Amino acid sequence: MDYRIGSGYDIHKLEENRKLIIGGIEIPYEKGFLAHSDGDVLIHSIIDALLGAVALGDIGTHFPDNDEKYKNIKSSILLKKTLDLIKTHKYKIINLDTNIIAQKPKLSPYIEDMRNNLAFLTNLNKNQISIKAKTNEQMDAVGECKAIEANCVVLLKKIEY
Ligand code: CDP
Ligand code: ZN
Repeated sequence: MDYRIGSGYDIHKLEENRKLIIGGIEIPYEKGFLAHSDGDVLIHSIIDALLGAVALGDIGTHFPDNDEKYKNIKSSILLKKTLDLIKTHKYKIINLDTNIIAQKPKLSPYIEDMRNNLAFLTNLNKNQISIKAKTNEQMDAVGECKAIEANCVVLLKKIEY
């Protein structure tokens, strides 16, 4: 039996007059992400965890932000491409466990929507996808509402035929 574990991390700055999209869900808030894409930290951390599990580098090596092709591209599309890559290497996801660290806004009302959306994108059962939210106890950039970060751990298993 062949299992692989992967971990991913991401952080993005918050700016006024930007959309806040986390886990593919638009969340009402006065600020949003400053990024070349939609800045979806949760999906970016999941992509890095998936790539890491198969030792395939990271999001920047596969989807360079200086490439016109990936400018303003939706994170869900990058996730789909990453899932195709994982499948090519004959791995499937057993489970994903994630944390979002955000001082504000309160994310608990949106967690189920995020899980449903990620289950849809990954073709997994909702019980294979865990999303947790934390504040940063007012400390550092995240605690000062200047950024939001996310991390993810994923377990993959070799597909047996
Ligand atoms: O209680 P503890 O210090 O461990 O955690 P916290 O950072 O104070 O967050 C308490 C709870 O608030 C979390 O368990 C989440 O359910 C929720 N939370 C949230 O909905 N949205 C956030 N941006 C942060 C936390
Ligand atoms: Zn990112």
